Amino acid sequence: MSTVLTPELSAYWDEPDSFTLDAYRRNGGYQALRRALALEPDQVIQTLKDSVLRGRGGAGFPTGVKWGFIPQGDGKPHYLVVNADESEPGACKDMPTLLNNPQALIEGIVIAAYAIRADLAFIYIRGEVLHVVRRLHHAVAEAREAGLLGQNILGSGYDLEVVVHAGAGAYICGEETALLDSLEGYRGQPRLKPPFPAIAGLYAAPTVVNNVESIATVPYILFNGADEFTKYGTEKSKGFGLFSLSGHVTTPGQYEAPLGTTLRELLGLAGGIRAGHRLKFWTPGGSSTPLFTDEHLDVPLDYEHVAAAGSMLGTRSIQLFDETTCVVRVVLRWIEFYQHESCGKCTPCREGSYWVVQMLHKLEQGEGSEADLEKLLDICSNITGRAFCALGDSIEAPVKSSIKYFRDEYIEHQRRGGCPFDPAASTLFAMEPA
Ligand SMILES: Cc1cc2nc3c(=O)[nH]c(=O)nc-3n(C[C@H](O)[C@H](O)[C@H](O)COP(=O)(O)O)c2cc1C
Ligand code: SF4
Repeated sequence: MSTVLTPELSAYWDEPDSFTLDAYRRNGGYQALRRALALEPDQVIQTLKDSVLRGRGGAGFPTGVKWGFIPQGDGKPHYLVVNADESEPGACKDMPTLLNNPQALIEGIVIAAYAIRADLAFIYIRGEVLHVVRRLHHAVAEAREAGLLGQNILGSGYDLEVVVHAGAGAYICGEETALLDSLEGYRGQPRLKPPFPAIAGLYAAPTVVNNVESIATVPYILFNGADEFTKYGTEKSKGFGLFSLSGHVTTPGQYEAPLGTTLRELLGLAGGIRAGHRLKFWTPGGSSTPLFTDEHLDVPLDYEHVAAAGSMLGTRSIQLFDETTCVVRVVLRWIEFYQHESCGKCTPCREGSYWVVQMLHKLEQGEGSEADLEKLLDICSNITGRAFCALGDSIEAPVKSSIKYFRDEYIEHQRRGGCPFDPAASTLFAMEPA
């Protein structure tokens, strides 16, 4: 069978010792670092710019450009901070990467830190995933023992220490400036920007914050060259990435493929929607991105095409829901999450998320009216653009898109005086239809 897959990060995840330094080296690991250390730091930054790698943490900002913002010769310490807080509903690519291939991240960290002239790097990981935290500590220790971290790395004269820091478990600490506050020991709340972290980040020093997958992709680019990376993907969305399929799909999991691959192609590899059912709606990039339906199966999953179709590529967290699912209930669950995770710093998000949950509850229980739908949309539009950070802006996306595509379903709740769906039918362990 022909395949669109491009397994690079995930190439040997099925080897039983894939997470060890031995396995990583056996599969060519740490050769990119030798190449990088033979270049000048600015040449490494240029290679990243040439690759047009766009940050894999959601916003898609070009990684090489971000590194290039770090002022040089400023006499200040520089820091690299890896964002491993992955907490958004549906997002599940960074934790498997850290479990299966932590050395790719560590090699990428050394290359990135060398490029921005940092001698201290941090990995900020969400604290609840204790097994991943342990694996990461083990991987850092292995790399250090082998002389791949610490002093005079591979005899180059370059020194780097890496600190693994476990957060206490708050979605907002994935927002890069809240993450920096948390890392400094403060309550994790977003900072006013500008100044951006590249100018005043950790301890007010120039700092690059990058996602796990962004940094773990760096060794591939340094080893194979920028041109090899840009062969994949589409005009402005280069390379490949992990697409995480979850929900009502026959074979959920990570599918590493070029940007621009469609959901129809991915479902072809994943065995389709679970047997006997059909696709109803899906998120292209996690719960903070507007919903798509089966009309969007052929949208190329890159930044530009997804935006043109009315959503966002985000973290390629594809949550799939079949016809047994109540869209009102799903959206309510997501907004309950945002309400719970709202840090409370600004009024539109702190109060607005609470209101939106109340209204969705009412609508889900069949006690709402059509006028309530308009009120709901009005509240959402008053949060977007007025909130202090992107968490607040995320609230409108699922609400507005679900009303756009499934207004009748909201009305049906009101007509019936309750939810028309059997919640048990949408569970993954539900009996298949006879
Ligand atoms: C509420 C919120 C949560 C976020 N969570 C994460 C996260 O868990 N991991 C991540 O890499 N980026 C997350 N981001 C995006 C980061 O702020 C930042 O853009 C990203 O780490 C930059 O890395 P990149 O350029 O490599 O994509 C989050 C943003 C917001 C607003
Ligand atoms: S938008 Fe929400 S999470 Fe962001 S600062 Fe305001 S209250 Fe905090």
